[in-house]
Amino acid sequence: MSAVLTARDLTRHYAISRGLFKPNAHVQALNGVSFELQAGKTLAVVGESGCGKSTLARALTLIEEPSSGSLQIAGQEVAGANKAQRKQLRRDVQMVFQNPYASLNPRQKVGDQLGEPLLINTSLSRLERREKVQAMMQQVGLRPEHYQRYPHMFSGGQRQRIALARAMMLQPKVLVADEPTSALDVSIQAQVLNLFMDLQEEFNTGYVFISHNLSVVRHVADDVLVMYLGRPVEMGPSEQIYQRPLHPYTQALLSATPTIHPDPSKPKIKISGELPNPLSPPSGCAFHQRCPHANERCQAEQPALRLLDARQVACHHVEWINS
Ligand SMILES: Nc1ncnc2c1ncn2[C@@H]1O[C@H](COP(=O)(O)OP(=O)(O)OP(=O)(O)O)[C@@H](O)[C@H]1O
Ligand SMILES: [Mg+2]
Repeated sequence: MSAVLTARDLTRHYAISRGLFKPNAHVQALNGVSFELQAGKTLAVVGESGCGKSTLARALTLIEEPSSGSLQIAGQEVAGANKAQRKQLRRDVQMVFQNPYASLNPRQKVGDQLGEPLLINTSLSRLERREKVQAMMQQVGLRPEHYQRYPHMFSGGQRQRIALARAMMLQPKVLVADEPTSALDVSIQAQVLNLFMDLQEEFNTGYVFISHNLSVVRHVADDVLVMYLGRPVEMGPSEQIYQRPLHPYTQALLSATPTIHPDPSKPKIKISGELPNPLSPPSGCAFHQRCPHANERCQAEQPALRLLDARQVACHHVEWINS
């Protein structure tokens, strides 16, 4: 199997102006993220607000250049690509946003919007484009008469179906979805998630699925990447992470997600305190002020990601916490 997306040590800093004559401050929005995504598989990226999920999404979809690190799309290095190659790479990686209304043109009929990627990127005739659009509309659960309608005539769930259809029109290798169901009613979240999974099976697309909520991604993720303040803290196969989270932050996140059958033998872990200010991150382990297991070493020394079986964890005490 070959990877459709390979990230190596992706890092993105933002310079923040603090006023005239003062040096800029820097936010490390993303720091040292590496992973490999295979065709037809889903990597879920989770973490609290501000941990760098959307920054990662923008880097993966070539909306923003990383400050350092490298990205390969289907084996092609992004940094070395020429203009024509870049255009192709942009086609290969599509994105779905949290708010589909923002990515749809309110003045254009839905059918025309879905046909647009074909118009720009292929030499298909008008009729052929229309057929393809109608097939895709059927696939995402829209009716033929919806072709002539405008985005405001749809419900939130339907609009997200349209956004997904548009992203899939050119059969991208990778789809990056940033909180695609967070703005939807709980009752339709599951339907939209199922649609994501159906399309993935059909087109063998690699998904990067972003959510602040671990329970949302539970049934879609093959692998999970947990981030804290821009850094990966735990990454590994989904079933292992859900069954036995190793990093204290993952443990706390999971313990905070409601379940239908709570396990009374597992004590609830509460994360205390606020997320630290990203402009002045804590010394050592960024999580140490909120971690029930932290000691002097965690204050002083930043833990590196270490391989433990199939998992990577960044915690000095992961062995004794979990023994
Ligand atoms: N263009 C920018 N300029 C300056 N700082 C930025 C910029 N974009 C993001 N940041 C900062 O980078 C950090 C990560 O932001 P990001 O939007 O990636 O978080 P997120 O995990 O997507 O959060 P949320 O769950 O709220 O969407 C935040 O501290 C944010 O303020
Ligand atoms: Mg975000």
